[in-house]
Amino acid sequence: MKLNRRHFCRLGVGAAAATVLAPYRFALAKDGYLEIRAGKAEQSLYPDSPASTLWTYNGTAPGPEIRVRQGERLKVRFINELDEPSSIHWHGVRIANAMDGVPGLTQKAVQPGESFDYDFVVPDAGTYWYHAHNKSWNQVGRGLYGPLIIEEPYPTFDAEHDITLVIDDWRLLDTGQFDEGSMGNMMDWSHAGRLGNWITVNGESQPELELKAGEAYRLRLINVCNARTLQLDPSRFGARILALDGQPLPEPVALSHAPYLLASAQRVDLLVIPKAGQDFALEELSGNRPFPFLNFRVSGTGAASPSSGIPTLKPNALAEPELASATVHPLIITGGAMGRFDGITYQGKPLGRESMMQSRQFWAFNGVANLPEQQFFTAKRGETVFIDMVNDTAWPHAMHVHGHHFRIVEKEASGLDESQPWRDTFLIDPGQTTRIAFVADNPGKWLLHCHMLEHAAAGMTTWFEVV
Ligand code: C2O
Ligand code: CU
Repeated sequence: MKLNRRHFCRLGVGAAAATVLAPYRFALAKDGYLEIRAGKAEQSLYPDSPASTLWTYNGTAPGPEIRVRQGERLKVRFINELDEPSSIHWHGVRIANAMDGVPGLTQKAVQPGESFDYDFVVPDAGTYWYHAHNKSWNQVGRGLYGPLIIEEPYPTFDAEHDITLVIDDWRLLDTGQFDEGSMGNMMDWSHAGRLGNWITVNGESQPELELKAGEAYRLRLINVCNARTLQLDPSRFGARILALDGQPLPEPVALSHAPYLLASAQRVDLLVIPKAGQDFALEELSGNRPFPFLNFRVSGTGAASPSSGIPTLKPNALAEPELASATVHPLIITGGAMGRFDGITYQGKPLGRESMMQSRQFWAFNGVANLPEQQFFTAKRGETVFIDMVNDTAWPHAMHVHGHHFRIVEKEASGLDESQPWRDTFLIDPGQTTRIAFVADNPGKWLLHCHMLEHAAAGMTTWFEVV
């Protein structure tokens, strides 16, 4: 489904003069825990339309912006007030395995009425996020996510120039309310995943943000869409990339190709210096016409001065892969609509047409659909691992590795990835082969899955172990 503005014009888009979420400050429990409660709440997703019942952290989607300084300990008491089990995963944060929030792999799912204490040290500064990790397609799809900002321990952009933008697409009914009835739609599972027809930023529709001309801003974009790869063109307003998936680039890089693709779960930190008198917008480009989902009003007459100084982000201490001694693990992705279904097994049995529909499994890694008993591979701690991913399907996928950042060392496409940036999620196109490399330096059992959440549920999930 393309973003269909026309469809929504019928509803009459009010001039949404909303503001962007200010960093959320919260009270800690007496024992130093920040309380995050998952529960239902009413929230309007479309201007002047009735509220929808969402699943939220502390009453809003996105949940509170958690800010913590690099190297500090983050203590979160997750309290589950939903009717079904849940957990929180700290996406992209290289934390101790027991805190990774994956039911069935790193912890027991937190039952309704129960709580779980997350307590970990955050190793890397940057832009991260947290989200539910039990039936994520359903729980994240209904609003269980929030930003996690790990601040640099040195001065960088101040609060006014450091802006978090949590971007979600929602599938709305004609009433402007959340389309609950189509959750779990099989067509979505076997095709592109659940795509929405409306975009919110920090839970608001087409908000407007005021920036000062000539000043340098850090915009932290977080794609929390279930499956949509956002097609953006920030090069139109001269944005440069500061960081990808939390990890800074050696220096800000100008965007070379449009559209810029921000896949599900990916983050990009943009450096933007507005020009006097030139308002601009962030637009999504997949529809017939560009869809401006965030407007920037530029005030003041300041000009950028080369001496004003753009803060430099220092690299985080990630272990550099040793390419010469790496072990290679091929991962062939098959299945999906218009794809190869033969030879897929699920729970030890061959997956036929019928069982495929019944079990809702449509995709496979190395011929196996969904979290197998047996790990994909075991690595010795400190070993460099290559995963050679082959996308033998008709669809792009947003591949995510838990507990580690990796470098893309070989890819058939060109572009920014030639600089081999660190990532925790990358987009692999149909027919493409990509080699990623990382040092398996975080002991435990880690998930590897497509972050198009319907794909993950429909087979694209496996795990590996570091011992
Ligand atoms: Cu952001 Cu396994 O997930
Ligand atoms: Cu996928």
